[in-house]
Amino acid sequence: MKTARYEKHGPASEVFILGDVETPHPGAGQVRVKIAFSGINPTDVKSRAGAVASVINEFQIPHHDGSGVIDAVGDGVDPTRIGERVWLMLAAKGSRYGTAAEYCIVDSALARQLPDSATLELGATLGVPAVTAAYCLFSDGPIHGQNVLVTGGAGAVGRCAIELAKWGGARVYTTVSSDSKAAVALAAGADVVSNYLVDDVTTELSDIEINRVIEVNLAANLENDIAIARPGIKIVSYAADGPDPVLPRRALMTAGVTIEFMLLFTVNPGKFTQAVELTEKALAAGALTKPPTRVLPLSEIARAHELVEGKSADRILVEL
Ligand SMILES: NC(=O)c1ccc[n+]([C@@H]2O[C@H](COP(=O)([O-])OP(=O)(O)OC[C@H]3O[C@@H](n4cnc5c(N)ncnc54)[C@H](OP(=O)(O)O)[C@@H]3O)[C@@H](O)[C@H]2O)c1
Repeated sequence: MKTARYEKHGPASEVFILGDVETPHPGAGQVRVKIAFSGINPTDVKSRAGAVASVINEFQIPHHDGSGVIDAVGDGVDPTRIGERVWLMLAAKGSRYGTAAEYCIVDSALARQLPDSATLELGATLGVPAVTAAYCLFSDGPIHGQNVLVTGGAGAVGRCAIELAKWGGARVYTTVSSDSKAAVALAAGADVVSNYLVDDVTTELSDIEINRVIEVNLAANLENDIAIARPGIKIVSYAADGPDPVLPRRALMTAGVTIEFMLLFTVNPGKFTQAVELTEKALAAGALTKPPTRVLPLSEIARAHELVEGKSADRILVEL
């Protein structure tokens, strides 16, 4: 099968190999998917670069997310799944068969049916961002009637968080850094959008009781988060770019703040499954829509990774 893979960590322009490897057969409990689109996330480029711990077993086909059609199933999987359109998640977790290839094998539970209304392109944008957002929003229960602040509302996770929070019945406040990103956040359904480079977000939110913050940059935003906090507020921090935050314990105690640091790869398995199922329900309800997307061919995999590293405002997909 056609693949993009690497055998050592390093810059995208140096380590990618384009070429064939043997098509894998699905093992017990697995499905094989003929990939249509492979979705790239920051975690994929960090793994390839060697910036986060990851072991290469001979070769690594990158990318956790993708979409396609099941073409074979392993022992124990209902054969009627063959032909099903699916979206994938965590394909490269502990596996060398990520989605940047003609075929991918994953545990059956990580290949979720796409409703007829959802395109394969949309399916490839879900995975890591949508399930992360669903976990951050719903891991403590329903959020109906709550006020949720999503920092970075035009980002991949942030935009999913806006759509999922609206679907969950919350009022959504969000921050962005430009008019074009404000337009993305508004189109996703945000009720109030602030430009954190221009507006005084703390003053704008001073009258609002924010119940939950979905936080992309705790180090940069902690002071604001504390300033708007009322006792009981929960901050869910899901990103670790840039410097680590300094936690002012007294101010956090006084404000009554709870902070959770989450990583999709290590969250409680039951809560992971719950986040997947809620994502699926929201998708079926039409609440998750395709973000601004740029699609490149597999032959331009290195360029695709560089776009993600360059913090592209568009989601980057590779078409197989
Ligand atoms: N914990 C997990 O399991 C998990 C899951 C998914 C992603 N992540 C991590 O989360 C981060 C974001 O991922 P992503 O895919 O959503 O990336 P992305 O699409 O690049 O989005 C990040 C967004 O954050 C915004 N941002 C940066 N600093 C900000 C600040 N101080 N206030 C408000 N917004 C800010 C960026 O826009 P501006 O810079 O223009 O403001 C951008 O829109 C990455 O580090 C990724 O590795 C972790």
